[in-house]
Amino acid sequence: MKISLPQRSKMLSKNFLYGVATASFQIEGGINSRLPCIWDTFCQKEGTISDKSDGSIACDHYNLWQQDIELIDKLGVDAYRLSISWPRVMNQDGSANQQGLDFYIKLLDGLNAKGIKPFVTLYHWDLPQYLEDTGGWLNRETAYKFAEYAKLVTTALGNRVHSYATFNEPFCSAYLGYEVGVHAPGKVGKEYGRKAAHHILLAHGLAMDVLNKYSPDSMNGIVLNFTPAYPATDSPEDLAATKFADDYNNQWYIKPLFDGRYPDTIDLLDDAHKPDIVDGDMDIICKKMDFLGVNFYTREVFKADAVEPFMVIPPENVPLTDMGWEIYPQAFTELLTSLNEKYQLPPIYITENGCAMPDTIENEQVDDQNRIAYYQQHLNALHDAIEQGVNVKGYFAWSLMDNFEWALGYSKRFGIVYVDYETQQRTVKASGQAYSDLLAQRS
Ligand code: FCB
Repeated sequence: MKISLPQRSKMLSKNFLYGVATASFQIEGGINSRLPCIWDTFCQKEGTISDKSDGSIACDHYNLWQQDIELIDKLGVDAYRLSISWPRVMNQDGSANQQGLDFYIKLLDGLNAKGIKPFVTLYHWDLPQYLEDTGGWLNRETAYKFAEYAKLVTTALGNRVHSYATFNEPFCSAYLGYEVGVHAPGKVGKEYGRKAAHHILLAHGLAMDVLNKYSPDSMNGIVLNFTPAYPATDSPEDLAATKFADDYNNQWYIKPLFDGRYPDTIDLLDDAHKPDIVDGDMDIICKKMDFLGVNFYTREVFKADAVEPFMVIPPENVPLTDMGWEIYPQAFTELLTSLNEKYQLPPIYITENGCAMPDTIENEQVDDQNRIAYYQQHLNALHDAIEQGVNVKGYFAWSLMDNFEWALGYSKRFGIVYVDYETQQRTVKASGQAYSDLLAQRS
């Protein structure tokens, strides 16, 4: 199967950017040449990672980066989204780890030499463990440490970076990491989630100033994930529960950035669960950005609950990915048009979209027609949103290659390139070829 788009689609013009994405902890390995991060610690705890694996080798990208640049180049993409590992480039005393910086400098130089635009995320979840030891994102000080880290990176990397995102998915760091505890650092409690989120958003705002000062020529912004919320029925109770869920999971992270305040749902929270907002914080958070990164995978359906403000209904009798996530591309279009209505947005980049599928490799081939279908449906959905007036400038497939899928370890494969973890052999899947062929068709 091929991936195709309507003939005159804006997405077939050379002005629309296509890329592939990864993140440091998920692919690098090379843990002995950096400080420990919260994911190293989390992986060592009993019962956290489904296959009991960790990030010590991952895709060994720390050693294989040159061949990975060749691979990215061969796909014919315009851009590569990567993240920098904070504990690789900064020592505990705040000084630079030159060896770590040199790794990224060589990588970025290699990409730029091939005309591949580097989209760099400063924080894709690998907080230095020493900062977690002083409270992590529950400690307001961490936000100021993040601004120092942003300064160190921007001054060291100079003009090598096309775009900087401060954070990847604050929802995941705050909610999954500090409220339900399925991600590092594994803290559980409603009294933590919103507090962590606030300090992350504060760190974003502080870092935007740093980026604009020390890297004024790059496109600077943030990456948010959205899982659109749909009601199980039209009953007032279900509609109210869905609104609460949407505010709590999605709008919570975008509204402060563009409107300078949290959703009104904040008034419904127990005082102990509210963030610690200091005067002036919301002005720091609400900074002009050059772009908004949007990550989209699936939707969720909600109903009212007697105890909690909302309840998720697990998908049943609908198409699913290997993550058990519903395949519902229409939500992608509806998400983008609704964000466009609600907020005064800068240009949007889809910074992640893709799916895990139960791939098998035979005769050095992975015939992942199911993943091709997912990409086809979601690129069509994106096309529809653009036709309806949403200003989307680019799209990144998650992921370049199979990698460490957090609490699910290596058991879930999201790549358009297959990784054999025994040999570190990379094999372009049928989806990788289809993506590459689509890009080659552009005029
Ligand atoms: C996103 C993460 C990314 C990857 C995908 C599947 O939430 O940003 O690292 O794990 O999900």
